[in-house]
Amino acid sequence: MTIRQVTCTAPVNIAVVKYWGKRDSDLILPTNSSLSVTLSQDDLHSRTTISIASQFTSDRMWLNGIECPIPTNQRLVNCLAGARQQRQDMESRNPRLPKWSTWGIHIASENNFPTAAGLASSASGYACLVFTLAQVLELPLTPSELSRYARLGSGSACRSIMGGFVGWEMGQRADGADSLAYQVAPETHWPDLEALILVVSDAKKGTSSTSGMQTTVNTSDLTQHRFANVVPERMRQMEAAIQAKDFPTFAELTMRDSNQFHATCLDTYPPIFYMNDTSRAVVNVITAINRLDAGIQAAYTFDAGPNAVIYAPKAHMPRLLLLMAYFFPGAASSADQTFEYFTNPYNAVPKGAALGK
Ligand code: DP6
Repeated sequence: MTIRQVTCTAPVNIAVVKYWGKRDSDLILPTNSSLSVTLSQDDLHSRTTISIASQFTSDRMWLNGIECPIPTNQRLVNCLAGARQQRQDMESRNPRLPKWSTWGIHIASENNFPTAAGLASSASGYACLVFTLAQVLELPLTPSELSRYARLGSGSACRSIMGGFVGWEMGQRADGADSLAYQVAPETHWPDLEALILVVSDAKKGTSSTSGMQTTVNTSDLTQHRFANVVPERMRQMEAAIQAKDFPTFAELTMRDSNQFHATCLDTYPPIFYMNDTSRAVVNVITAINRLDAGIQAAYTFDAGPNAVIYAPKAHMPRLLLLMAYFFPGAASSADQTFEYFTNPYNAVPKGAALGK
């Protein structure tokens, strides 16, 4: 039996201008543009192996070793159908190409970090899936074109297709053709910037991003103000701060955006709480550090969970680590509040390996 097999890894990304809301839930078209930093895949990443063979009678998928039924996962179905259609179009244009579009697809994916705990597992997972599919089916797609397929799996996944600093333009079209990721600056642009991830809890989150953001869009007045009056200007300011490697501006915008995102969650009816007491204590410590004479030294941001991501210039990281260990001494011993430290020299693009026949 001939099997084509490819394994790839893809890193997580952490937004500094948050995506929170869809105008089309099937195509995953957002209500606002967003921007993130893709972390190093030496740390948090998804790893996916895809095998295709004419003898495979159905498509199958295993996540962290457990088989998940594909037909009940519409997003997965859409990603596979999109990639297969693309391959089929190529094959009908060039009849000499092997008919891989008719072969069954087996997917095995795993994360080296807690799944669905607000650490962007769906972002790296779907980016990795789509990137690996494109390799195994030999689809000649640009990163921006690939981001469109990753978006069909999970909105934030479109940004993990690229390394460095990545924007996701919300677009205007109903078919989503202009809702694409773009690279603001490559991974080599700001090597002095690092990210520290504090895993406050690795429990699965109570309200998923998907359902939480729709309730926010439907019920929060604050979020309408955010979409119309805050995000467009913030995207411009954030891109300029990144281009200029202006850490104090980057940090202030990042913290303000995290604060406003969680404020819209509180303004949701019924309210959604992602941050917990430990998360708020982290905010207080970073705020206190930033009030010292040396000025802004670190920026916190929280996604749909209690875990903190701290961005800081490399030189401040050792002191930040000491301060976190000092202020949260018991955290490592409590089952629900493990504190783990990773320093991530940010960046990197998905990588492919081991193409076999
Ligand atoms: C808070 O991309 O997980 O991390 O598109 O429904 O899969 P779906 O949502 P998802 O939401 C991410 C929300 C966020 C902010 C962000 O990454 O921009």
